[in-house]
Amino acid sequence: MSLNIPADFVEKYNQPGPRYTSYPTVPAWKQPFGGDEYREALADLATRPGDELALYLHLPFCAKHCFYCGCNALVSREKNAVEVYLDRVEKELSMVTALIGTGRRVVQFHWGGGTPNYLSNAEVNRALAMFRGAFDLAPDAEVSLEVDPRIATPEQVAFLRSAGFNRISLGVQDFEESVQAAIGRKQGRERTLDVYRGCRDAGFPGVNVDLVYGLPGQTRESFARTLAEIIGLGPDRVACFSYAHVPWVRPEQNKVDTSRMMAGYEKFGLFQLTVDSFQVADYDWIGIDHFARRDDELSIALRNRALHRNFMGYATKPAPHMLAFGMSGIGDVCDRFAQNDAELDSWGAAIDAGRLPIVKGHKLSDDDRLRRLVILNVMCNLELPWALTEQAFGAPADRLLAGELAALPPLVEDGLVTVEERGLRITDKGRYFVRNVAMIFDAYLAGAGDKPLFSRTV
Ligand SMILES: C[S@@+](CC[C@H](N)C(=O)[O-])C[C@H]1O[C@@H](n2cnc3c(N)ncnc32)[C@H](O)[C@@H]1O
Ligand code: SF4
Repeated sequence: MSLNIPADFVEKYNQPGPRYTSYPTVPAWKQPFGGDEYREALADLATRPGDELALYLHLPFCAKHCFYCGCNALVSREKNAVEVYLDRVEKELSMVTALIGTGRRVVQFHWGGGTPNYLSNAEVNRALAMFRGAFDLAPDAEVSLEVDPRIATPEQVAFLRSAGFNRISLGVQDFEESVQAAIGRKQGRERTLDVYRGCRDAGFPGVNVDLVYGLPGQTRESFARTLAEIIGLGPDRVACFSYAHVPWVRPEQNKVDTSRMMAGYEKFGLFQLTVDSFQVADYDWIGIDHFARRDDELSIALRNRALHRNFMGYATKPAPHMLAFGMSGIGDVCDRFAQNDAELDSWGAAIDAGRLPIVKGHKLSDDDRLRRLVILNVMCNLELPWALTEQAFGAPADRLLAGELAALPPLVEDGLVTVEERGLRITDKGRYFVRNVAMIFDAYLAGAGDKPLFSRTV
C-alpha cells in the first residue's frame, strides 16, 4: 500500500524532465533534417526487406476543441476536410512506398489524434483500404485507435471492430461534471458507459481508457469516484496521464484556471491514490502512468522484463521501424527519427508539391543508440542489467557508462535504486521517480538551460 514519501523528498526530485517516449527526446534534435534525410532512411529500409514495420496515422480532426487538450488537434469548418486530408495521406503513402516498395509486413497499426472516430464509416474504410493496399497487415497485427466517446455510438464501435480494429482507447479523463466544465469537455456519463459496453459487445480484445489527473477542480474524493467507476468497468488497460499544461504550445489552455489545479505534493498524492487504487484492484503499474490487468500482455511482458516503448506507447514486441503518416506524425526508421510538419497547411502544401513533409529529425549516433537502449530499459523494465549492452555494444553497461554510474550513490542513499552485482534495479519508491534515474544517462540534458522544454517529473 501507499508508501509514505514526505513532501520535501518529493520536492527534491520534482524537476523538469523528459518522459522518454524517445531518446534523444525531441528538443535535442538539432541536426539539419528534412525530406532528403528521411529519403535516405527509407532507402536503407528498402535494403532490409525482411524487417517488420509499425505504422502510425495521425487524424487531427475533432468535433469541438477541449481547452485542456495537449494533442495536435483541430476543428475544421470545411465540409470535405477529411476527404482532402485523406487524399494527401494517400499521396504521402505513395511517396513512401515508391522508396520502400509495397507489401511490407506490418505488425502494429495505430490511429491517433485528434479524434479518429470523427471519420465517417466510409472514410474509415477508405483509409484502411489505402494502407491495406500498400502494406501486408499481419493477421495478428495490433490495429488500434483512439476514440472520443462523446461522438461515438455502440453502432460505430461495432463497425470499427468489424473493419478490423482490435484495440480501442476511450478518452474519459474524469467523470465529474465540474471537472469536465473546467476543461471545456462536457461528456455525459451514460454515453461513455454505453460506448464502453458497445466495445465489449462488439468483442474488442483490448479496451483501454484514458484518464488525466491534476485537472482543475479535481479533489482526492472526486478523483477517487472516477477511479472506482473505471475500475468497476474493468478495462484491460488504463492510461492515467499527468495533466500537461503547456499554453506556450497550446494557447487554448490559457482558458484553464490553473489556480484550481493541484500541484507539487498534492498532485503527487493524487497519483499515489491512482497507483494504490489500481494495484488493489489487481492491475499492474506499467511504465510511468499506465495500468494493465494482471493477465494483460503488457503485465506479462513487465514480469518477463520484456516491455518496450515507442511513440505510440508501451508494447510487447515492437517492430524495429515505425512509419508515421499525417501531420505531426513522428517516425523511427533505420535509426533516424523523423517528424512531419505539424501545421495542416504546410504539411499539405509539401505533399501537393511532391515533397516528403518532414521538418525535423535526428540520426542516432552509436552513443545515442547505447543510451536509448539503457534509458528505455530503465523506464520500461525498471532495471539495468549490466549484460544488456554486451551483444550490441561489446561491453557491459557498467563499463560503458562508468561516468554516469558515478552519479548513482545519492539515489541509492535516497532509496530509489539498488546496485547489485548484475545490475541496478529501481525500488518501489524509485518507481515514482524513474524519470530522474533515467535522466542520469541522458547526454543532452546539460544543454537544456532554463527553457520549459519538459513537464515536471512528479
Ligand atoms: C489524442 S487524445 C485523443 C482522445 C480523443 N480525441 C478524446 O478526446 O477522447 C489522447 C489522450 O491524451 C490525453 N490528453 C490530452 N490532453 C492532455 C494534456 N494536456 N495532458 C495530459 N494528457 C492529455 C487524454 O487522456 C486523451 O484522451
Ligand atoms: S481531447 Fe480529444 S476531442 Fe478534445 S481537443 Fe483533444 S483530441 Fe480533440
